[in-house]
Amino acid sequence: MDTTGTLFLPPSGSTMAPEVDALMTFIFYVCIFFGVIVFGGVILFSIKYRRRRQVQVEAGPSHSTALEIAWSVLPLILMMIIFFWGFRAYMKMSVVPKDALEIKVTAQKWFWSFAYPDGATSVNELVVPVGKPIKLLMSSKDVIHSFFVPSFRLKRDVLPNRYSIAWFEATQQGAFELFCAEYCGSKHSGMLGKVRVVNDREYTDWLAASGKAGEGLSPVEFGAKLYESKECVTCHNIDGTRGDGPSFLNVYNHEVMLKDGSKLIADENYLRESILHPEAKVVAGYQPIMPTYQTLLKDAEVDALVAYIKSLSQ
Ligand code: CUA
Repeated sequence: MDTTGTLFLPPSGSTMAPEVDALMTFIFYVCIFFGVIVFGGVILFSIKYRRRRQVQVEAGPSHSTALEIAWSVLPLILMMIIFFWGFRAYMKMSVVPKDALEIKVTAQKWFWSFAYPDGATSVNELVVPVGKPIKLLMSSKDVIHSFFVPSFRLKRDVLPNRYSIAWFEATQQGAFELFCAEYCGSKHSGMLGKVRVVNDREYTDWLAASGKAGEGLSPVEFGAKLYESKECVTCHNIDGTRGDGPSFLNVYNHEVMLKDGSKLIADENYLRESILHPEAKVVAGYQPIMPTYQTLLKDAEVDALVAYIKSLSQ
């Protein structure tokens, strides 16, 4: 199986990849072939018919019916091959198999989150079983993003206010890069994720484990884990320096100046509200860019994050 990719294409990891690659390779060589003819002709004729001192104009043929038919019909045939080949692949990509496992994908500035049928969720890591068709029901909470997994030859825009649907079937286990392929703001290039393809057993285990992620951890330890895994770390650091959002260092029980000029002491309720309704009380000097975490965090997870933020204050 192809795991390394070629000069032009990344490794092939889905059932669609071979078909896309074959068409892509065909178009590539057709372009090379005609590119050589066109540019070769340009160079050859500009040498052969360059301007000379003694100009001798020969009367050439005014037209050639055979040539004209050839250069009309041959490109038409080539275009039709490309069209029907591409159309067939496009149909396969568009029609989701009936037995597909449906996963909800949410894009927002600047991360991906995934919700699985049994209630498990993950951020920036999509975990799927190998050899099963996966349907992605995708939407955005803010601007247009684009879900792009090169190894699966899968790219689909993710829009606010409507669903876009894509599907794939992974053919091999491993981790594959997930990119956002639509410019969506200052951290667009950092909107990276992974698709982790595992076997059935690992998938079931992963689902079971994600249901009890906080087990055996203290709220602060669990909160510290969530701070990383739910991507708080993208905008909020814990060393007191400024990010896209305020640092978590020494926030709890300290005075916070808000955008509207008012002040408050950051207590548990303020922290909780800022996680679930970030637009309610924006800190002075910051843009209201944080998305709500309402659907992304369970109650126990909000509690753990609040506990973690509290632990960062003296
Ligand atoms: Cu999201 Cu670019």
